[in-house]
Amino acid sequence: MESVDLRTDLPHSARMYDFWLGGKTNFPPDRALGEAFEQAIPSIKVMARENRKFLGRAVRAMVVDGGIRQFLDIGTGIPTEGNTHEVAQAAAPDSRVVYVDNDPIVLAHARALMDATGSGRTAYIHADLLEPEKILTDPVLTGTLDLTRPVGLTLVAVLMLLADADDPWARARVLMDALPPGSQVAITHPGVDFDPVAMAAVVEAAGKGRMTLVPRTREEVARFFGDWELVEPGVVPVMAWRPDGPAPADPTAAYYWSGVARKR
Ligand SMILES: C[S@@+](CC[C@H](N)C(=O)[O-])C[C@H]1O[C@@H](n2cnc3c(N)ncnc32)[C@H](O)[C@@H]1O
Repeated sequence: MESVDLRTDLPHSARMYDFWLGGKTNFPPDRALGEAFEQAIPSIKVMARENRKFLGRAVRAMVVDGGIRQFLDIGTGIPTEGNTHEVAQAAAPDSRVVYVDNDPIVLAHARALMDATGSGRTAYIHADLLEPEKILTDPVLTGTLDLTRPVGLTLVAVLMLLADADDPWARARVLMDALPPGSQVAITHPGVDFDPVAMAAVVEAAGKGRMTLVPRTREEVARFFGDWELVEPGVVPVMAWRPDGPAPADPTAAYYWSGVARKR
């Protein structure tokens, strides 16, 4: 592997998320900005864990209810508990997963994502959501996924890292348009409407750390799903999306919107 500059002198979203999840792949600037976020949103670690739990529930539902056996996971993050292929292959061992991330540190850890079980397969592409056409035509993707069959696309906690000027709606649309009917997309996104003051504080802290972070309204998040049919319960706070146990007392405690939709 060619050497890469991990820029551990700057905070990075993947490593901050790893810090909030209690991982070990983070550095002082990641922890400093991670703690600044926590000052503004004391429940930030709960948010990260709830977001991760949603990923598991959504992938399992896509396999079990949607019959999906292949996944495209964009904005993979540093491998941790409940990676997409582990969840999918636990439910259907022949599931295939292509992971995509643009962070060199995720690339450096990608081997941990390659432990496909049984007849399943996993693959990793170092690429950017800003260039969805490149992702779709990458030989690793076309050699792993059959784009004539339904795909589960996950855009979980990644779209907020694209500025409005980069039109994340159009980038998601390119990916969604390339998938056949029966495909599903799972999205989570920090919501500005849960606590606008706290969100303004994290956006300011992110800006000081030279990080783009754009919390969005429920309406803006709902727009990502376009004309795909939302599965129940629609676009809801992440803790309220088909919780495994009893319904949480306060589902708005984690400031993420979430949803899953199906292409007709
Ligand atoms: C907060 S983590 C989310 C990880 C995982 N999806 C989850 O929800 O548990 C965001 C990930 O998106 C990646 N990312 C950010 N911008 C990206 C881009 N433009 N293209 C691809 N990946 C990106 C980051 O490197 C990071 O690994």
